[in-house]
Amino acid sequence: MTQDPVSSPKSSPILLAILHEAKDGETRVAMTPDVVKQWVEKGVNVVVETGAGAMASCTDESYKEAGATIAKTAKEATSKANILVALQMPSAEVLDLLPEGALVISFVWGLAHPERITEFTKRGLQALSMDAIPRTSRAQTMDALSSMSNIAGYKSVLIAASTLDRYLPMMMTAAGTVPPAKALIVGAGVAGLQAIATAKRLGAVVEAYDIRPVVKEQVQSLGAKFVEIPLEEEDTESTGGYAKELSDRNKEIQRETLAKHVAKSDIVITTALIPGRPAPKLIFEDMVEAMGEGAVIVDLAAEQGGNCVYTKANETVVEHGVKIVGPVNLPATLGYHASQLYAKNIHALLQLVIQEGAIHLDYSDDIIEAALITAVKPTESSAESSTASPAADTEKTSKTS
Ligand code: NAI
Repeated sequence: MTQDPVSSPKSSPILLAILHEAKDGETRVAMTPDVVKQWVEKGVNVVVETGAGAMASCTDESYKEAGATIAKTAKEATSKANILVALQMPSAEVLDLLPEGALVISFVWGLAHPERITEFTKRGLQALSMDAIPRTSRAQTMDALSSMSNIAGYKSVLIAASTLDRYLPMMMTAAGTVPPAKALIVGAGVAGLQAIATAKRLGAVVEAYDIRPVVKEQVQSLGAKFVEIPLEEEDTESTGGYAKELSDRNKEIQRETLAKHVAKSDIVITTALIPGRPAPKLIFEDMVEAMGEGAVIVDLAAEQGGNCVYTKANETVVEHGVKIVGPVNLPATLGYHASQLYAKNIHALLQLVIQEGAIHLDYSDDIIEAALITAVKPTESSAESSTASPAADTEKTSKTS
């Protein structure tokens, strides 16, 4: 539905808050000092909770130099904020601190957790979800899913290399020649392509497989062999470029061929995901059993249930002599660069959201339309005035896109 944009009042400058991310193991911060500086120069007031960037090598001092104010507590940072930028879905306690009408920008994963959308709407908050940014050319600079998946793909290979009791590259030594390790990457989206590139850089012999045939050329251009599995005719790609779930017959065909490639691999990295669905199961008991002793599987789909039947999120299990690693939140293991890249993605989105010193949510913009998971229906009075406060003059409805 096309609606008029809703803008916040321009009379006072926007107050943007950045908090310490409370989730266990999180090291990232949503905005780095270099990006803060750019918004301060545009007249936005930025307040940072003390220590928010410490785990990402961003000190309070560097935020102060960028022009931000340091708050002693989350409450102090948020009580008057118009915008909260975050990585993880903020807790109920944090949402309670925000004034009605404030805008939250973070990963929400509303498709998998629709109840989270209600957390915003019942408090009169608006939310732009970073995982709902469309995968279009125009939105590329805001694509935090890609920034973070890239890190996960890179780290998955480093984990595999340090878990494997073998070299990855071929080694010619006085004591003999060691052949290169064989790596199979299943799922060649953003994470998978980066895993291929990283495994190649480390000298492994790499094969990759994806149900979307369009990725074949990308796989080959990285120097890996594409595993062909001719499926019975079926559209395996949705309009957004994402994968679709396969029919039972095609799952069977896939399983048979994949088993041969898994069996000869020293490393298998799985990255296969289908939006809004549990991760597809691709690596079964018999396939693990057929792998060599000491082989390693790194399952990047662990948090979504895993691509391997044995995967346990945040654990390494050993089955049939194969180590199966189920890492979670890998981008947080590269806190500095993950924060830098996420901050750039947020910066690009804010350029759409903040115009002439006010919050301006233009629902006719396809990026805002997709990412705004709390749809707002302006009332007659707000539709008349383009500077009306979203909190005061809007009626919120829940959208589960
Ligand atoms: P994803 O994280 O949703 O899935 C990872 C990969 O798993 C995908 O390549 C998918 O095809 C594959 N997969 C799913 N089920 C499978 C199965 N049963 N067997 C084997 N592989 C399976 O994907 P990601 O990385 O988020 O990319 C999704 C799409 O978005 C891709 O088409 C990608 O090219 C596109 N994209 C477009 C961008 C742009 O135009 N700005 C930026 C980034 C991605």
